[in-house]
Amino acid sequence: MTPEIKLPLETANLIIDDFKNSDYARLREIALNINHKSDEDNEKGYMPFYAFQVDKDTPDRDVLISQKVADFIIKSHKEKLEEPRNVYRMAIRLKDNGLLIGNVTINMLPVEENGKLIYGDRGCCLDPQYAKRGYANEAVRAVSHEFFKYYDHMDITAHPNNAYSSKLIQRSGGRKVGSKTSNYGRGEPRDIYRIDRDDFYKSCAFNQQMPNLLGLLIKRKLQKGDSQK
Ligand SMILES: CC(C)(COP(=O)(O)OP(=O)(O)OC[C@H]1O[C@@H](n2cnc3c(N)ncnc32)[C@H](O)[C@@H]1OP(=O)(O)O)[C@@H](O)C(=O)NCCC(=O)NCCS
Repeated sequence: MTPEIKLPLETANLIIDDFKNSDYARLREIALNINHKSDEDNEKGYMPFYAFQVDKDTPDRDVLISQKVADFIIKSHKEKLEEPRNVYRMAIRLKDNGLLIGNVTINMLPVEENGKLIYGDRGCCLDPQYAKRGYANEAVRAVSHEFFKYYDHMDITAHPNNAYSSKLIQRSGGRKVGSKTSNYGRGEPRDIYRIDRDDFYKSCAFNQQMPNLLGLLIKRKLQKGDSQK
């Protein structure tokens, strides 16, 4: 069975689906907001999304950011047409009003890198105005759930200084397993994380709030079944 994601995905607060050309203006706004926030909060561990990153002092910075956003949307259209589709570069929208608030991307086919297969390579960015409300976690959990229907682990990388990214990865069960030089951005090093399927499901809010309850319910059901024999 070819791994795929049937879009749109719907969560409690979000709709996750493909980008449209009409998303350009709003995505540009988000990319500018992310770059500006990283100018201010870089020391606090906030890093720009590599696909939209342009250094602060670069001449015509906003024009370059706009170009990166246009390229990003064009790329997403091309990836959508691939057979079988590998990269799902998706829009995160608020369910209430359809507003675009970010992007979540995942590879549904393993990709070879230096003789090793990489699974998932999940990435996410959010408009800083909609951060710290749990939306990024909600979006990455939704796409990871689709991914774990086919695979037992996921590989992710994060810039070692990106406190927000590593927190997001760890919140969905990720653990650091190494580091490497990167193919992204300027080739700066990346921490390597692995998420095992079991750890992903153990990291869900229900299990965190009531650890072992699920196991207890299953055990009770089994015992009840035994007593009825
Ligand atoms: C990485 C990134 C997406 C994380 O966004 P985020 O806002 O930290 O993540 P969430 O939306 O899941 O919010 C989680 C926070 O909201 C808080 N929160 C508030 N209300 C909440 C609610 N109702 N439900 C869940 N969490 C809630 C959580 O406690 C958590 O806070 P904490 O990090 O202080 O513990 C964002 O920082 C970003 O876009 N960065 C720039 C791009 C980037 O670096 N991307 C990663 C590389 S691919």
